[in-house]
Amino acid sequence: MLNRLIMLTAMFTLAFFIPAAQADDTLVVYSGRSKVLVDPLLKRFEEETGIRVKIRYGRDAELVAALMEEGKRSPADVYWGNTSGALATLSQQGLFAQLPEDVLNIPKSFVPQSKRWVPVTVRFRVLAYAPSRVSKENLPDSVMDLPKLKQFKGRIGWTPNYGSFHDFITGMRQVHGEEATHTWLRDMKALQPKAYASNTPMLLALASGEIDVALTNHYYVLRIADKEGEDKVATHHFASGDVGNLALVTGAGVLASSKNKEAVHKLLRFLLSNAAQAFAARTIREYPVVPGVEIPLGLLPYEQIVKLGPELDPEKLRDLDGTLNLLRKAGIL
Ligand SMILES: [Fe+2]
Repeated sequence: MLNRLIMLTAMFTLAFFIPAAQADDTLVVYSGRSKVLVDPLLKRFEEETGIRVKIRYGRDAELVAALMEEGKRSPADVYWGNTSGALATLSQQGLFAQLPEDVLNIPKSFVPQSKRWVPVTVRFRVLAYAPSRVSKENLPDSVMDLPKLKQFKGRIGWTPNYGSFHDFITGMRQVHGEEATHTWLRDMKALQPKAYASNTPMLLALASGEIDVALTNHYYVLRIADKEGEDKVATHHFASGDVGNLALVTGAGVLASSKNKEAVHKLLRFLLSNAAQAFAARTIREYPVVPGVEIPLGLLPYEQIVKLGPELDPEKLRDLDGTLNLLRKAGIL
């Protein structure tokens, strides 16, 4: 209740202090991305360019709803989102402006077909495993074969209520169709996977021996391996092109209503610069979308990641409702 009140107060305060978009040298960024990434980067951007930035933080769904409601009156110049589903919703609602070719050409991969937003970083789905109990040779080349591994009955972790798991299932529906995805879910369920509320507790459970493998995102494995040791948690990538390696693309788009387009394009160029890309790789272990960026240990080289996941327009991950329905139908939600 108190949290709700604080949130509401914060929302009203923001609504009050941020006037509708006007041409000046202050940019308003709506950010679904976390402060650890956004604050230091935007501070550096302010220092380098003299352009001031105001940031409204929120969850993707909350910010997308706000932008749809505000429409042309929105104070936002740019939306920087966590998920391609949220970005796709805004792009398909016609809320994003066209981007200049030179900005669109900086990322060498993961650009949506609509070209209404640019990718900023990429995360990948992976299979985490406990190297002390599982040998890598026994892990499948395709996530579609995971349900065949009866030895993992009761020892697989997943996060059926979590956004990136939903994105993964949406990706599977796109690549393999409804039928095959339903069968996969049914067969997985027969293996009695353990459901976790989120990825960190799941990987801690993996490290402590409660489960042997877990479906997760690449950066969680790196974080937990840092804390618990590389002998406790390791990464398995499926064969190149497999949906088990699905790319989860984060990105940013310029609001059509923005009066500061020049400045926002500067911001996008900055986010796609080598320095900003290397910062994201270092601090939150997400992959760069441009080649030639210095990456920390544990991340794969750019040439490998562009071929890791299936070829899929990131905006195809928009149909969340279809995925939730299928999960209900399979008795998982
Ligand atoms: Fe996450």
